[in-house]
Amino acid sequence: DKGTYEHYMLKEVDEQPAVMRRLVQEYTNEKGELVVDEAITSRIQKADRIYIVACGTSWHAGLVGKQLIEKVAEIPVEVHVASEFAYNMPLISKNPFFIFISQSGETADSRQVLVRVNELGYESMTMTNVPGSTLSREANHTMLLHAGPEIAVASTKAYTAQIATLAILAKATGMVKGTAVAKEFNLVKELSLVATGMERLVGEKEHISDLVKANLETTRNAFYIGRGMDYFVSMEAALKLKEISYIQAEGFAAGELKHGTIALIEEGTPVIGIITDEVMGSHTRGNLKEVESRGAATVVVSMEGFEKEGDHIVLPHVHELLTPLVSVVPIQLIAYYASLHRGLDVDKPRNLAKSVTVE
Ligand code: F6R
Repeated sequence: DKGTYEHYMLKEVDEQPAVMRRLVQEYTNEKGELVVDEAITSRIQKADRIYIVACGTSWHAGLVGKQLIEKVAEIPVEVHVASEFAYNMPLISKNPFFIFISQSGETADSRQVLVRVNELGYESMTMTNVPGSTLSREANHTMLLHAGPEIAVASTKAYTAQIATLAILAKATGMVKGTAVAKEFNLVKELSLVATGMERLVGEKEHISDLVKANLETTRNAFYIGRGMDYFVSMEAALKLKEISYIQAEGFAAGELKHGTIALIEEGTPVIGIITDEVMGSHTRGNLKEVESRGAATVVVSMEGFEKEGDHIVLPHVHELLTPLVSVVPIQLIAYYASLHRGLDVDKPRNLAKSVTVE
């Protein structure tokens, strides 16, 4: 039920603060500590390598998950696109653990890999929004995303729920392993700051709608750039914009533009920079200057603490490992308004289905 909303997508964007709070509740014990099924953490902490397999937006969440698990739980992680993994299986380590990330739990590309992983006898977990889904039933373990039904084709609250759930897994596994980073990472507090920050951002709809009118209303293409976490969010930002506004968009590692793609920059080409880290951000600002001098219309999304005068959207400051949870919110809204202002079907874009059950 859309309630008073015109579109499911906007409702689902707005639900994200509540989803963050619900996840903390669902994964907290009576002592207020974050906990994950011990069968999962005790198995994962022994893995010599974790393989994350997913598609689309869920794959983008996996890229963030790699940073979280490597930094907090100190286990090496590889992230793979399911449809590639199926036919070009990488060398598998001696003691692997597989994590399938899938909102629907029904994606055929991911299932194809899970079937193979089961044949090979490797242990796995599915992180999904749908209890009892195919991927959940066929993996050894499940972690639920608790995001509530996601109806809009463009995934929003599932992406942030996936990242938060990966953070919870990283923290819980790190605690079992006893890593110093895990002990210092007060995730309950940090996720509550994220929820508050998201609330502020979803309140900036009018401002974002105006930004879209000024920069993306008629353009044929657009670029998102960033480094580190901001690069991963840039890829998600581009996918979101493509699928519902039909603007050809690309997410780039900011430093890579000058190695070729900068040739595409013309007078007025929108380039949106995402900056949530001081050092990497200063380099991204340099890259924005480069494209600006070639005519690009630049938009800067920066985090409090690292913002500069004239930046267009300022994000509330959150923990450095959780920045995608807030930086993604305005980019979801940018995609929404780009689609809306172009008079397109926001919730049901052409050629797409909510769950992709063909390979
Ligand atoms: C994009 C989107 C898709 C899905 C992908 C995987 O907004 O929704 O890219 O993320 O099809 O779907 P799940 O997560 O259900 O496996």
